Amino acid sequence: MDVYEAILSRRSIRRFQQKSISLELLKKFINVARLAPSAANLQPLEYFVVTEKNLRDKVFETLSWAAYIKPKWAPIKEERPTAYIIILVRDTNNKWYSRDASLASENIVLAAEEEGIGSCIMCKIDRGKLQEVLNISKDMIVDSVIALGYKAEKPVIEDFEDSVKYWRDKNEVLHVPKRKLEDILHVNKF
Ligand SMILES: Cc1cc2nc3c(=O)[nH]c(=O)nc-3n(C[C@H](O)[C@H](O)[C@H](O)COP(=O)(O)O)c2cc1C
Repeated sequence: MDVYEAILSRRSIRRFQQKSISLELLKKFINVARLAPSAANLQPLEYFVVTEKNLRDKVFETLSWAAYIKPKWAPIKEERPTAYIIILVRDTNNKWYSRDASLASENIVLAAEEEGIGSCIMCKIDRGKLQEVLNISKDMIVDSVIALGYKAEKPVIEDFEDSVKYWRDKNEVLHVPKRKLEDILHVNKF
C-alpha cells in the first residue's frame, strides 16, 4: 500500500476484532511517531502503550465515542480496541505540542492502516482519571489516545451536503461526510 492509498482508505474505526496486535507492530507505530516533524525539533512527546486487558478496560472507561451517534454509543465488549497508544507531553511549556502530537498521530494511523489495523484518534478523554489509573506523572499532559485494533467495520465516505455529522445506517455501516475538493480549493484566486 502506498501512502496515498493509505490516506484514501483510512477511516476512524470504532469496532474491532478481538485479535491482538503484536508488540513489534506497536513499536513500529511509535517509531514512525518518533520521526514525525517537530516544531524546532524539540520533540516534547512520549508514548504509553496499553495492551493488557485489565488496563485496557480502565482506559476504555475514560473515553467518549462517536459523539454524533444518538442514542449514546460505545463499542460493545466484544468489539473494543485491543491496544491504545497514549500521547503524552513531557515539555508542557512547548506551545506547539498539539501540532507535534497531530503529526505523530497521523504517522501512527497511516502506518496502522498499511498493516490492516484500524484506529481512532481520541481527544474527548477524562484526562485526570486516565492519569490516575495508569499512574502517569501529573507533570505530564495527556494529549490524546489512539484506539487500535484489527477492523470489524468498514465506514464509507459521503459527499458533504448540509451536515458534517456522520451517521450509522440500518446495517450499522458508518457514513462519514467529507467536504468536496472543489468547495475547499482556491487556485491563484480566492
Ligand atoms: C483531534 C481529534 C479528536 C477526536 N476525538 C474523538 C473522540 O474523542 N471520540 C471519537 O469517537 N472520535 C474522535 N475523533 C475522530 C473523528 O470523529 C473523525 O476523525 C471524523 O469523524 C472523521 O472521520 P474519519 O477519521 O473516518 O475521516 C477525533 C478526531 C480528531 C482529529
